[in-house]
Amino acid sequence: MDNDNRLKIYVETYGCQMNLADTEIVLGIMNKSGYSPTQIIDDADVVLLNTCSVREHAEEKIHQRLGIIKKQKLNKPNLVVGVLGCMAERLRANLLEKRKVDIVVGPDEYRKLPELLDGALAGTQGIGVRLSRTETYDDITPFRTEGISAWLSVMRGCDKFCTFCIVPFTRGRERSRKLGSVVREVEQLVEKGFREVTLLGQNVNSYRDEKYDFADLLAAVANVDTRLRVGFTTSHPQDLSDKLIDTIASRDNLCKYIHLPVQSGSDRVLGAMNRTYTRGHYLGLVRKIRSRISNVALSTDIIAGFPTETDDEHKETLSLMEEVRYDGAYMFKYSPREGTPAYKLGDDISEEVKAGRLSEIISLQQRISYDVNQTTIGKVVEVMIDGTSKKSDLQLSGRTDTNKTVVFPVGSYKSGDVVKVKIDKATSATLFGEVVTSLN
Ligand code: SAH
Ligand code: SF4
Ligand code: F3S
Repeated sequence: MDNDNRLKIYVETYGCQMNLADTEIVLGIMNKSGYSPTQIIDDADVVLLNTCSVREHAEEKIHQRLGIIKKQKLNKPNLVVGVLGCMAERLRANLLEKRKVDIVVGPDEYRKLPELLDGALAGTQGIGVRLSRTETYDDITPFRTEGISAWLSVMRGCDKFCTFCIVPFTRGRERSRKLGSVVREVEQLVEKGFREVTLLGQNVNSYRDEKYDFADLLAAVANVDTRLRVGFTTSHPQDLSDKLIDTIASRDNLCKYIHLPVQSGSDRVLGAMNRTYTRGHYLGLVRKIRSRISNVALSTDIIAGFPTETDDEHKETLSLMEEVRYDGAYMFKYSPREGTPAYKLGDDISEEVKAGRLSEIISLQQRISYDVNQTTIGKVVEVMIDGTSKKSDLQLSGRTDTNKTVVFPVGSYKSGDVVKVKIDKATSATLFGEVVTSLN
């Protein structure tokens, strides 16, 4: 029997990890103002979609989903439906008018949610889409489902203005949380039993709190508990300082994994993208990282078919991938976003050519990931267990501090335990092995 009379709120999250962290902030705000978070959509009085605008496809998915959810309103006329996140910020009142949702709230206005929901429950549409130069939700306690891994946004917004990217327009200007408040939140996470924290920001290494930079923050968080695994994402190559590299190298509990989006291997395209580095500078950075952090893993983001990209320039991306030998990559077809500078260049690479380039990029990366993973066979790696394997209850699964998924037979371990696993087989996506010692 459910004795909770509070209104139930359900939030579905799309897009990047920052949106996952924002959903926990939204639920934190709503929980405090008397709503009860639920994970069952059919039980909900309020359904919110926390959305992404980064590519057209991301938005199409939301439009479809909204269609389905609004059908449920036919049986449940009092259901409140809202759009949060980047699409709310981009499409604004259009969503109220054209999609007839009840509320539209952008990433910097979540404090207004209780008030806007009161209105919506009384039948009034509401909107909050102002961007802020200061909002960091520093004082809000996120509503986290218990587990071993936590996301924690330490900065918001982006000032880089890569020409293809909508994020600076949907998330506004860069701003950071206070170092002391981040450290206090991490202390609480440790007390609650979390074993891993990932510090988040669109450009997490441009973090700044007066005299403290991101390396200082990372060191302070790592010092909270030497058994806590600490990772971070995303890094822009321009802001990855020597101090940061040395900080990562100097502490065992800082993950030896850097996501360092390159986007393209061609200097001309990088210039047109306003990425602020050259191929040479990027490769130099990779060499420096590898010389100072042993066994570091690197991943990247790549865009295929940026406007005006030639076949030769595409081949430069392939050759850069061969040179770096990334452990993994997120690979996308260019998607024009209205309002960005690249939008004005048109979208002159045909769908067919884009698809062809993307598939070359994907197959090359699969081969590289496979080859890189073969080199782990016979080695012993430390794995933090995060649950049973997706494919079988008889297998456990976990991750190395280089972000590789490792699958091994069940034993008397629980989530959060760290075990040593000897690798005997590897695919492009997963390592397999047997436990040799448990560390706790
Ligand atoms: N702040 C992060 C990236 C955020 S968006 C960074 O700079 O690294 C995640 C990725 O989506 C980007 O790295 C880029 O590869 C991709 N992306 C962004 N805009 C895109 C667009 N218009 N078309 C295709 N991919 C895009
Ligand atoms: Fe977008 Fe570039 Fe900012 Fe990343 S750094 S969020 S790709 S503008
Ligand atoms: Fe998408 Fe917004 Fe994140 S556009 S990638 S949800 S910052």
